[in-house]
Amino acid sequence: MSEIDARKAGAFRVGGDIEVARLGFGAMRITGKGIWGEPADRAGALATLRRLPELGVNFIDTADSYGPDVSEILIREALHPYPGMLVATKGGLLRTGPDRWPPCGRPDYLRQQALMSLRHLGVERIDLWQLHRIDPAVPRQEQFEAIKALQDEGLVRHLGLSEVSVKEIEAASKIFTVATVQNRYNLVDRTSEAVLDHCEAKGIGFIPWYPLAAGSLARSGTILDETARRHGASPGQIALAFVLRRSPVMLPIPGTSNVAHLEQNVAAAGIALSDEEFGALDAEGRKAFSQGG
Ligand SMILES: NC(=O)c1ccc[n+]([C@@H]2O[C@H](COP(=O)([O-])OP(=O)(O)OC[C@H]3O[C@@H](n4cnc5c(N)ncnc54)[C@H](OP(=O)(O)O)[C@@H]3O)[C@@H](O)[C@H]2O)c1
Repeated sequence: MSEIDARKAGAFRVGGDIEVARLGFGAMRITGKGIWGEPADRAGALATLRRLPELGVNFIDTADSYGPDVSEILIREALHPYPGMLVATKGGLLRTGPDRWPPCGRPDYLRQQALMSLRHLGVERIDLWQLHRIDPAVPRQEQFEAIKALQDEGLVRHLGLSEVSVKEIEAASKIFTVATVQNRYNLVDRTSEAVLDHCEAKGIGFIPWYPLAAGSLARSGTILDETARRHGASPGQIALAFVLRRSPVMLPIPGTSNVAHLEQNVAAAGIALSDEEFGALDAEGRKAFSQGG
């Protein structure tokens, strides 16, 4: 194992059968501004993706809506046929312009988008397909049944949810096995603490998006500074080490469009926080959250 290696974070079996290194990669940032169109630095985005397997990263999170399509197409160009990797994608949002993401959970749209993802990724089956949002305008049962049908047809292997409550996970679990849940979570955003506890109890992978709070936890001047100094690490690396330590079902997917940041983020897999450090950060993070972040 080389010095920087995602496998140092340990492994998790998605859906109980596909083993991935717990530190993954979020592929939303390899697109244009507003997560719309081509990235400003296409060669840099491809180089970032190609560096993933060299760093032991074998879990990538993307979505049909990132670009739209741009992220999936770049992943295919860089990494197809993905030996030893799990490329997870999502569907269930429309794109009506930069930074605009209205939900659309109509069963025919969900099916269409899953079929489009299969084509863009160049695979016959998607290992993990996640419902990006439950559309409040469509009965949730219809959405759950539509994605279960994708699984029954063999188009997707495992199913996940995003931005859901414990009650919604329980409702979905009556229709299919929920393999993963992807909710916003980081040291100072603990809104999904109860969902995380539920996932841990049920062995559901919890994918915390926004683990670096879009980079603001990677800068100095936060409650992470002291621990970072002690480890000779950056604050962002400690923010990632914290979420990894928080739960064995945690699968962080920090997003970046450049190789230097990727290497820095993956190096966090090798940082072991002591019980005291974890306890102090946890308490400070919860306090900052209760005071409004
Ligand atoms: N399910 C959902 O609804 C949902 C919503 C949003 C995102 N996601 C997923 O979650 C992933 C992560 O979320 P996110 O991208 O919003 O947030 P994030 O990972 O917390 O932050 C990414 C931002 O931080 C910067 N960054 C990354 N590494 C850095 C480093 N080492 N030093 C300094 N800055 C750094 C990146 O800029 P640079 O490119 O300059 O490095 C980028 O702007 C996404 O890629 C996507 O796959 C899911």
